[in-house]
Amino acid sequence: MKTAVCGKGGSGKSTIVTLLANEALGRDYKVLVVDSDESNSGLYRMLGFDHPPVPLMELVGGKKSLKQKMSQPSILTENHISLQDISSQHLARRDGLMLVSIGKILQPLEGCACPMGVLSREFLKKLTLKADELAIVDMEAGVEHFGRGVETSIDSVLIVVEPPLESVNVAQKIHELASGIGIKNVWAIINKVPSEEIATRLKTELRERYIEVIGCIYFDADVFRSSLEGRIPVNGVAIHEMKEVLPRILSRAGKEL
Ligand SMILES: Nc1ncnc2c1ncn2[C@@H]1O[C@H](COP(=O)(O)OP(=O)(O)OP(=O)(O)O)[C@@H](O)[C@H]1O
Ligand SMILES: [Mg+2]
Repeated sequence: MKTAVCGKGGSGKSTIVTLLANEALGRDYKVLVVDSDESNSGLYRMLGFDHPPVPLMELVGGKKSLKQKMSQPSILTENHISLQDISSQHLARRDGLMLVSIGKILQPLEGCACPMGVLSREFLKKLTLKADELAIVDMEAGVEHFGRGVETSIDSVLIVVEPPLESVNVAQKIHELASGIGIKNVWAIINKVPSEEIATRLKTELRERYIEVIGCIYFDADVFRSSLEGRIPVNGVAIHEMKEVLPRILSRAGKEL
C-alpha cells in the first residue's frame, strides 16, 4: 500500500506520517517513509534517525543531471524497485522503519523543484512492495505535486486538516485533484483539534464538501514538545488515537489487519 499524506503547510503532515509509521511498526509492518518534501529537512529526526539518508536525487547525478535526462522516458534504470534494491546509503533503517529522501533545495537560485517531482513520481511508480510493506509519503505542502503527477501510482491519499478554514479549502482542492486522477481512497484526518465542538464543526465543513473523515487527532502537548526537541512523540493522546485510525485506513485500503 502506498499512502500519500497531503495538506496545507503546517497542518501536521510530517507528524501524522510519524504517528502512522510508528503505529504500523507496532503491528509488524515494514514501513518505508518517503520524504518527498523538498523544503523541510527535519523528518529524519522526528522518525528517530541520527542522520538523513543521502537523497535519491544524488543517485541520478543531482538535479542538474536529472534536468538533462527529463526528456527520456525513464530516469532510473530498473522497471521495478524493491526495498532490497536500495543501498544503505540511500535507505536509512531503524528496526522495521526505513526512510528515503527524494531531494532538498539547498542552494539559492538553484531553480525550481520540478525535477524532484519527476523523481518522486518515477520512484513511487517503480516501487514494488510486498504484502507486509507499507509506504507512507510525506508530501510537500499544498497541491503543486498533483500538477507534477507525483500521485499517479498512489493508492490512498490522506489529507491532514487543521482548524483554519483555509486548511479545509486546500483539502477540498486536494480531494478534487486526487479523485480526478482516479484515486478511490481519499480521506481527511482532522488534526490539532482543541475540543469536541471544533471537531464537529470541522467534520461538518468537510462533509459539506463530500470529504470523508477517517480520523481525528486532538492537539497533543507531547507531540508539540517533541517537534521542538526533535524527537519521536512517546506518550500522549495522539498515539492512542492513531491506534484507532490506522486499522480503519488499512481495512478500507483492503489490507489485512
Ligand atoms: N496533533 C498535534 N498536536 C500538537 N501539535 C501538533 C499536532 N500535529 C502537529 N503539531 C505541531 O504542528 C507543527 C507543524 O507540524 P508538522 O511539521 O507535522 O506539519 P507539516 O504539515 O508537516 O508542516 P510543513 O508543511 O512545513 O511540512 C509542529 O510544531 C507539530 O509538533
Ligand atoms: Mg512536514
